[in-house]
This record gives sequence, structure tokens and C-alpha cells, in this order.
Amino acid sequence: MNIKPEVAALHDELTQWRREIHAHPELAFEETRTSDFVAQKLEEFGIEVHRGIAHTGVVGVLRSGDPDAEHIGLRADMDALPIEEQTNAEYSSRIPGKMHACGHDGHTTMLLGAAKHLSRSGRFSGTVYFIFQPGEESAGGGRVMVEEGLFERFPMRSVYGMHNWPGIQTGVAATLTGPVMAASDTFSITITGKGGHAAMPHQGIDTVMVTCEAVGALQTIASRNCDPADPVVVSVTQIHGGDATNVIPQQVNIAGTARTFSKNARDMIEPAMRRIINGVCAAHGASAEFEFERGYPATVNSAHETTLAARAAARVLGDGNVIHDMNPCMGSEDFAYMLEERPGSYIWLGAGEGRAQLHSPHYDFNDEILPLGVSYWTALVEDQLPAE
Ligand code: NI
Repeated sequence: MNIKPEVAALHDELTQWRREIHAHPELAFEETRTSDFVAQKLEEFGIEVHRGIAHTGVVGVLRSGDPDAEHIGLRADMDALPIEEQTNAEYSSRIPGKMHACGHDGHTTMLLGAAKHLSRSGRFSGTVYFIFQPGEESAGGGRVMVEEGLFERFPMRSVYGMHNWPGIQTGVAATLTGPVMAASDTFSITITGKGGHAAMPHQGIDTVMVTCEAVGALQTIASRNCDPADPVVVSVTQIHGGDATNVIPQQVNIAGTARTFSKNARDMIEPAMRRIINGVCAAHGASAEFEFERGYPATVNSAHETTLAARAAARVLGDGNVIHDMNPCMGSEDFAYMLEERPGSYIWLGAGEGRAQLHSPHYDFNDEILPLGVSYWTALVEDQLPAE
């Protein structure tokens, strides 16, 4: 482990910031307190601050040496989740029903720590953009920042993201080239039959039976229609229909999510679903209304920047502690929108094994990794923007 003494010395302060943010979680585009906290710290460090990008987003600009040398963007997310915290930690959420259950409090803190350290050390030549984005969890804050001109206003050549990852050992980082997180699309289907008396099914068209058949048939998309080497998940997560034990419902609604990595697979899902649903309905004389909405695209790491990210992580954690060929995750991440615009890389920073998973009410960010995250960010900057 290669943690600079100046960074190690920040550990207590970082822990304090992290717990302060943790106690005051805010949901997508409501991150006003967090955004104030971030902006105030950046100003304290003498960093140029830009606010109001995607409502509550903040960008800090730090120049050193030759500011026209390399420009690099480092991104953290700030939002919390609508979860009732159950950790009983002394710094637990003070806001009922809201919780930092994904560690974005830690991500914000680690990027602030890097901003503090780099603003003091100035050991780089170029421009660093510290991007604090709102609404990662569901609202696409990354997309809104891109739409509001993030890359035109702050002309970075490449952009980097990091997520803490329970289940990976502390002191280990993992990444891979290509898709790391999946595209996430949602669907909602209303199946209409002919409602009637449950004792006289021959007089109706049974939407419950049609739905069951349709839900099973949808699983053939992943198993029979897609290249087995190109992962696809289709999950039906909601079925709503019926109010009585003796009535066949007129309508049943099903909804769920589809996850893919490649454009081919993503483009194939919607028509395949329509074909199956319409076919099953037609077989029984029912009909269907189908809605399919595209959500976050796949998060795709570029090869060169992933090599640079892995090298920076290895400089901090040691060569043997960086996994270069991690399995991708079918979860999604709206850093994807930034990686559609600029080359870059997203890495997972191990948060320890045997800890509560992300989005669990028992999840608690591991404060031990705060100096590791700060050191990764600073190593990345010092590697890519070498001082003259
Ligand atoms: Ni997250």
C-alpha cells in the first residue's frame, strides 16, 4: 500500500465529512445541502466552483503548471436512496425514509479529499475537473449534466468514475475494458382478455393464464434468441391483476427490466418481447398494449484509459491488488452517459468482504477506504498530468 503521509493525515477529517454527508441524505436533484457542502469545501481549497449544472451539480476546476496541458475529469455522485436506514450507527440518517445506502457519501468525500490534496500539492501540470453529479440512482443526473454542456464548458479529454464495492477485499481494485455495467431498459405490458365468472372460464378469456404463459415465454429471449456469449437479463418484477377469488380479471399488467451490454442485444429485446407477447395473446384471443422505455445505456470502459486507471490503482494498492478482468455487472450506472461522450474508465474499489451489500438498509460505507480512494484519484492525475 502506497498512501502518502499527507493523504493519510486527512483520514480523520475525511471520516468526519463522510459521516456529516451520511447523516443528511438527499434524493435525486434535491442535493442542495450536499451541494452546498461540496461547493463550500472546494472554495476553501481555492478551487474555482461552478454550480447549478443539472440543478444541484457542482464542478470544481483546478489548474496547475501549464493549464493548457492535459485536461481530465474525475466524477463522483452525491445522491441517496429512499430507504429507511437500519445500521444503528451514531451518524445514521437523520432524514426518515432516506439513506446513503450506495456509498455516494463516500464517493463525494473521496473526490473532495483529492481536491484538497491536489490543491495543496500542485504536483501536476494541466487542468482537473472535479465533477459532483446529482441523481445517479434513477434520475439520470449524469445525462442531464451532459445535456447541459458539461463537456463543452469543461473541455476534458477523458473522464473517470469509481464505485466502492462490498464483496471485493479492502485494498483491491477491479476493472475491465469494454462494458462494465449494463444498459437498463424497462417495460410495462397490459394484457386484456375477457373478464368473467371464475366458475365459467369458457365464457371469458383468462388473462391470468395468458400472463403466466407470457412471463415464462419471455425467458426464452435470453436463453434462445440471444448469443449466449452476450449476456441478457429479462426480469418480470411486477404482476398486477384481479380483485376477487371468483372473478377472472379483464386486465393484467406486468412490468420489469431488461439488461444488456451490447447494442445488438439491446436492439433485439424490444421486438422479441413484442413478438412473444403478441403471439401468446393471439393464441388465446387476448390482446396486449406494450410500452418499452430505454434507460441508462451500458457503461463502456475504453481500453487506453482503463490501462491508465489500472496503472494508477496499482501504484497505490500494489500490482497484485488490481484485478484487470473482473466480470462485468448487470447493474446500471449513469456514468455511462459521460463515457458515451469521452473515453474513460470506471473502476470498483473494494470495500471489504462480508459487508452488507449496496442498497441494503444495513449497508455502511467503509471509512477505511477513504484514503485509498483519494490516493487513486491523485495518482491518476499525477500520472496523466505530470508536473514539468
Ligand atoms: Ni451507487
